Amino acid sequence: MGGRAVLIAGATSTSGAAVARALTAAGAAVVAVGARADGLEALRAAVPDVTTHRCDLADPDAVDALVAAVHASSGRVDGLVHLVGGWRGGGSIAGQSDEDWDFLDRGFRTLRNTTRAFADDLVASPAGRLAIVSSTSVESPTAGAANYAAAKAAADAWVRAVAQGFRKDAPDSAAATVFVVGVLAGLEEQLGDAVVRLWSAPPADVNGVRLPLTPR
Ligand SMILES: NC(=O)c1ccc[n+]([C@@H]2O[C@H](COP(=O)([O-])OP(=O)(O)OC[C@H]3O[C@@H](n4cnc5c(N)ncnc54)[C@H](OP(=O)(O)O)[C@@H]3O)[C@@H](O)[C@H]2O)c1
Repeated sequence: MGGRAVLIAGATSTSGAAVARALTAAGAAVVAVGARADGLEALRAAVPDVTTHRCDLADPDAVDALVAAVHASSGRVDGLVHLVGGWRGGGSIAGQSDEDWDFLDRGFRTLRNTTRAFADDLVASPAGRLAIVSSTSVESPTAGAANYAAAKAAADAWVRAVAQGFRKDAPDSAAATVFVVGVLAGLEEQLGDAVVRLWSAPPADVNGVRLPLTPR
């Protein structure tokens, strides 16, 4: 992955650090983005090779400024790994609150903002890759976590729509992939390895594909 620049959107969780570590170990230049300065500082301490940017990815103007800053410091990106998510329950359909929806919808809004902003980079790259982590709740939604399942379903569909665009615009070079997990805890290193492998797979094999991640 030498010479490839990969932006991780929402990089300060355990999974973000694991993906950053795997990508830097594979030779990629990692641009890590988070909303909190202390989270980014902790990430730099854990994975010293990363470049960090603080940005509220739910704010389209802030994302435009991020694109300019990343292009100035790291050039065009070859990869976007979007990890902003979060979980809220509610117990029943009646318990699916607007407040929880606003929180969960943040994952989808940040995905829309970042994919629209970096789409041209990914299409122009000789090996453009987009990846998200979706949930088994998309196929098996429950009343008690309907907000969560709906937000993840929207993100899942959005990435497969991006994949259809890649099939048209960059069929030999770009791919958008949805990893699917039940619980991510314990699978972070596997996720990092799977993200790196996206660059050795032929685009047609991983574009628009939902790849389950299960414990080894
Ligand atoms: N955890 C699970 O069991 C599980 C299961 C299925 C799917 N997933 C999916 O896997 C992905 C990663 O999950 P995770 O639990 O590791 O991480 P997460 O808690 O969902 O969030 C990861 C990151 O999002 C960042 N973030 C939140 N709002 C932001 C904003 N407005 N702008 C920029 N960054 C923002 C946080 O940074 P700050 O702290 O700096 O705000 C944090 O680094 C998510 O898409 C999640 O839905 C997780």
